Amino acid sequence: MFYINRATVVEWFRNRLPVDTLMEHLTSKQVPRHRHSIWYYFGGLTLFFFIVQVITGILLMFYYRPTPDHAYESILFIMNEVRYGWLIRSTHSWAANLMIGTLFIHLISVFFMQAYRPPREMMWISGVVLLGLVLGFGFTGYLLPWDEMAFYATQIGTEIPKSIPIVGESIMVLLRGGQEIGSATLTRMYSLHVVVLPLATLLIVGLHLFLNQYYGVSTPVKTTKRKNSIQFFPNYMLRDLRVWLIAFLALLSVAMIYPWGLGEEADILKPAPEGIKPEWYFLPLYQTLKIVPPRIWYFDGEALVNIVFLFGGILLIVLPFIDRRSRNKERNIFIKVVGLIILIYLIGMTIFAYMD
Ligand code: HEM
Repeated sequence: MFYINRATVVEWFRNRLPVDTLMEHLTSKQVPRHRHSIWYYFGGLTLFFFIVQVITGILLMFYYRPTPDHAYESILFIMNEVRYGWLIRSTHSWAANLMIGTLFIHLISVFFMQAYRPPREMMWISGVVLLGLVLGFGFTGYLLPWDEMAFYATQIGTEIPKSIPIVGESIMVLLRGGQEIGSATLTRMYSLHVVVLPLATLLIVGLHLFLNQYYGVSTPVKTTKRKNSIQFFPNYMLRDLRVWLIAFLALLSVAMIYPWGLGEEADILKPAPEGIKPEWYFLPLYQTLKIVPPRIWYFDGEALVNIVFLFGGILLIVLPFIDRRSRNKERNIFIKVVGLIILIYLIGMTIFAYMD
């Protein structure tokens, strides 16, 4: 009789995969403990929600049909006919929002801890690229249910770049696949949402996590009250897993208690309903565009806002190279104060947009 010895199988894999080297790395790695350690959970949480997005997204793809004639109907089918379809859809939508929330907290915490200083500049830059990709997920996914809100919010969203001089009109046409929102827009958003963005995100997340393993976790500048450190494997990973479990339970509860809704089907011929607003993470830009006067001095108000936000994004990318003090491992109060003012502005505009 053919007999397989367990020890031989394990040995076979050990000789062919670098398991020992990996285990040696994971068990020798230490994670510093200090009073800001709690913030380190948010990178892992963002990763957790991203994994949930990929799994639930693949399940939704089994039934979703990306054409204006079938999109809304297929969502209704998922919600009413497919077993647990409503829960998968609700989990996907809630996890998307929670992921963007934890991503913002992760960004803000690494900013204030100046974790972007050498040698982690590439971690920061890959992070800013991830921010763009994740916002791209939100934007492209919003149109897919093809309900009224999705349709008109995408109409407003794709019109925003129009005011940018020279390239604005072309960006809008590129996003819409024509002058108007229609079938070309939906297939475009769908391919970006399920192929281009996931592939790019997997690649960049891979780089981000590899660098995190390679350089280890940083200690904030001048954190004197450092309590020893903790072994990455298994202790730190188990702590992270505990938080993932809590996040999973919270996500399931919220997805069940507040199932994600669906509005009326989009009707291109109907006038736009009142109170159309983009998702919360685009509200600061939306509200700024709303309050800015049409002309500021010689310039078009909207174009100026777009350029300022674009410039802000570029500044965010090059931050590790601007902050000379952090390069010398010194605190940079000026940059922190500027960051705080921008943060207060963004939160203020979001609240203002909700109340407006
Ligand atoms: C899909 C999005 C992202 C995922 C999945 C992710 C994941 C992670 C994980 C798991 C860590 C290690 C634990 C931690 O320090 O929190 C980390 C560290 C880091 N991340 Fe992210 N991240 C993302 C986006 C970002 C963004 C938007 C930025 C900033 C622009 C950023 C900058 C950093 C930096 C600088 C570190 C090093 C922190 C340190 O060593 O002290 N990440 N990230």
